Amino acid sequence: MAEPLKIALAGLGTVGAGVIRLVEANRALIERRAGRPIQITVVSARDRSKSRGVDLSPYAWEDDMVILGERDDVDVVVEMVGGSDGPALALARTTIEAGKALVTANKAMIAHHGLELAGKAEAKRVALKFEAAVAGGIPVIKALREGAAANAIERVYGILNGTCNYILSTMEDTGRDFADVLAEAQALGYAEADPTFDVEGIDAAHKLSILSAVAFGTKVDFASVAASGITRLRAADIAQAHSLGYVIRLIGMAEAGADGLFQRVQPHLVPFDHPLAHVDGATNAVVAEGNFSGRLLFQGAGAGDGPTASAVVADLIDIARTTVGGGELGPAFSMPVAELEALAPAATGHRQSRAYIRFMVADRPGVLAEITAALRDAGVSIESLIQKGRAGDAGAVMVAMVTHEGPESAVSEALRLLDGSPSLSEPPLVLHILGE
Ligand code: NAP
Ligand code: HSE
Repeated sequence: MAEPLKIALAGLGTVGAGVIRLVEANRALIERRAGRPIQITVVSARDRSKSRGVDLSPYAWEDDMVILGERDDVDVVVEMVGGSDGPALALARTTIEAGKALVTANKAMIAHHGLELAGKAEAKRVALKFEAAVAGGIPVIKALREGAAANAIERVYGILNGTCNYILSTMEDTGRDFADVLAEAQALGYAEADPTFDVEGIDAAHKLSILSAVAFGTKVDFASVAASGITRLRAADIAQAHSLGYVIRLIGMAEAGADGLFQRVQPHLVPFDHPLAHVDGATNAVVAEGNFSGRLLFQGAGAGDGPTASAVVADLIDIARTTVGGGELGPAFSMPVAELEALAPAATGHRQSRAYIRFMVADRPGVLAEITAALRDAGVSIESLIQKGRAGDAGAVMVAMVTHEGPESAVSEALRLLDGSPSLSEPPLVLHILGE
């Protein structure tokens, strides 16, 4: 039997413990597929005494996780700690510098430091793998980096955050409130250690920036992702969207072209007949449009211990199939770091779209006329408009509308005209409507 691939596992929370369970449960199958055993030799986390629902007695314990990659009983370090910097980044750097392969689920770290780490991994000819960082159990990095590698991809979009999708689809189905459903998503192990990363769209932005780099062959550019989350949505928006024939989903969308790199995370109205409208719970879905493959749709569990562990161990099997170090697996992204193109962020004003605009306004004569006048002056054409009676805020009523297709700059201009109006009790909410 070939030598085992020896693994150090840093982080024993939801995903780390899931990796142990999977490696134990599928040991024989993994060994046959990988051509050799995958053997966890040493583990590390913050608190050695914490009960984790898995038996840690077969493994050595290392207090200082940063030195895991320097140990002789380790070929690959699996980083399941989290955080863009701090111990996770220190561990990633020391591991690669020690000439060992790194597998991570840490999208925050790859979004911020992926290019540096990939450059170091190329120089050391070791593998850097991060399948679990994007869309949980869906093998979308492998699919785009390998399966669709022959295509020019101009557009990639989808549902990239399981927690938000769980919250939105549960609120839609049950009418339960936001905070209650978020607490449930946390208990199920879907949310980040700091759940504001989920609900403010930052986690989806991390993933989108990685997906863009792999799909387009561009440099990871997290800083230019325009991200907004789901915290401003009200149950009434979900109900209103429903009555108009839409569900609301947090969508990450990226395009690369002559205009530059467009990357945006925002809740969208998704028509009932669009495939993404039926993606519920913690499920993710990614659509990539290749110039020869056509539209590719990937869908599956986007968060949670089992699906994420599945992606992590698939990376380990890839490495195990090569010689120790995994350098033969090629560059971490779809091409070497030096070949990745640096595209400027695209301007968005001329983008054509339909939008849902929701105003909370004072319930007095003339307010609706003021809003529609601003829209008229900015050249925004209204397709439908609904005014609801008082709900929630004392004295405020909700006016929601859907616009005809037009440039995004026109909607921005209408909002500029209304800025500071005493008729509005809060800034308007604009959500784009997902097209074909
Ligand atoms: P988690 O449950 O919070 O687990 C984090 C683990 O890291 C814990 O075992 C913790 O130790 C350890 N840790 C944290 N800070 C540490 C420090 N300063 N020094 C040493 N150990 C430290 O997180 P998770 O949900 O498993 O997520 C882990 C990574 O996977 C993150 O990058 C996350 O974004 C990513 N991810 C998660 C999911 C998911 O569904 N949960 C899916 C895809 C990717 P203690 O247990 O001793 O406190
Ligand atoms: N917090 C993340 C989510 C975990 O909810 O999608 C999976 O990356």
